[in-house]
Amino acid sequence: LRLHLAPKPLAGRHALVTAGPTWEAIDPARGITNRSSGRQGYAVAQALAEAGAAVTLVSGPTSLNPPTGVRVVRVESALEMRAAVLDRLPEMDILVATAAVADFRPAQKASRKLAKTALQGPLELCVNPDILAEVAAHAQRPKLVVGFAAQTHDALALGAAKHQAKGVDLIAINDVSQAGLGFGSEDNHLVLIDAGGTHDLGRADKLMLARALVSHITSLLSSPTL
Ligand code: CTP
Ligand code: CA
Repeated sequence: LRLHLAPKPLAGRHALVTAGPTWEAIDPARGITNRSSGRQGYAVAQALAEAGAAVTLVSGPTSLNPPTGVRVVRVESALEMRAAVLDRLPEMDILVATAAVADFRPAQKASRKLAKTALQGPLELCVNPDILAEVAAHAQRPKLVVGFAAQTHDALALGAAKHQAKGVDLIAINDVSQAGLGFGSEDNHLVLIDAGGTHDLGRADKLMLARALVSHITSLLSSPTL
C-alpha cells in the first residue's frame, strides 16, 4: 500500500465561496435572475478543498452536484446569500465571490401568483446590497477577499475599476463575449488583477482555471505584504 500525501497548502484555512445566480421572486411563479450555471464557482470550491481548505459553498439555484468534501448552503435571493455569508464571516480566512448576484429585486414580493393583468405599470425594483464590497469593508474581513467580474467588453479596464472600487485583494475577470466561453460552457478565460499587476491564466476548462486561481490565492496568502 502506498500513501500519496499530496501537499495541502491551505490545510487549516476556512474558505467561503459564493456561486450560481440568485433568484429574486416577483411571486411564487415568476422572478428575476442572472445568467450563471454555477460551474466556475463549484470548480473553485472543489479546487480550494483539494488544496486542503475547509470550504463552505453558498450557492444560489443551480443544477450541479456539490463537490465532495464541500459544505453547501443553498440560498435563493441576494438577501439570503448576504445573510448566509455574513453569518459565517467570523471564522473565514478566504472569501471567493463567484456568484452572479442579481443587482435588483422587485420592490414587492407577492405571496400568491399574480394574474398577468395585475401588473398595471412598470415593475418597481430596488437595488440589492453588494455582498462582496460589504465583506471587503467589514470589521471581520477575511484575510483574502477575491471577486469575479464577467464582462462583455473592456474587460481589463472594467475589471480593474471593480478591483479598486470593491476593495478586494484579487479580481478574476472573465470575458463572456466569446462563443463557447463563460456562461454555461465548460471552458473559460480568466485574467487576474491584484496589487502586483495582471496575470493571464489563459483559456482552459473551469476546473483547471480554478486550480490555477487557488495556487495564486495560496501564494498571496503566504506573501508578507498581505
Ligand atoms: N457581487 C456581490 N453582490 C452583488 C453584486 C456583485 O457580491 N450584489 C460580486 C460578484 O459575486 C462578483 C463581483 O461582485 O464577485 C462583481 O460582480 P459584477 O456583477 O461583475 O459587478 P457589479 O459591481 O454588480 O457591477 P455591474 O453588474 O454593474 O457590472
Ligand atoms: Ca452585477
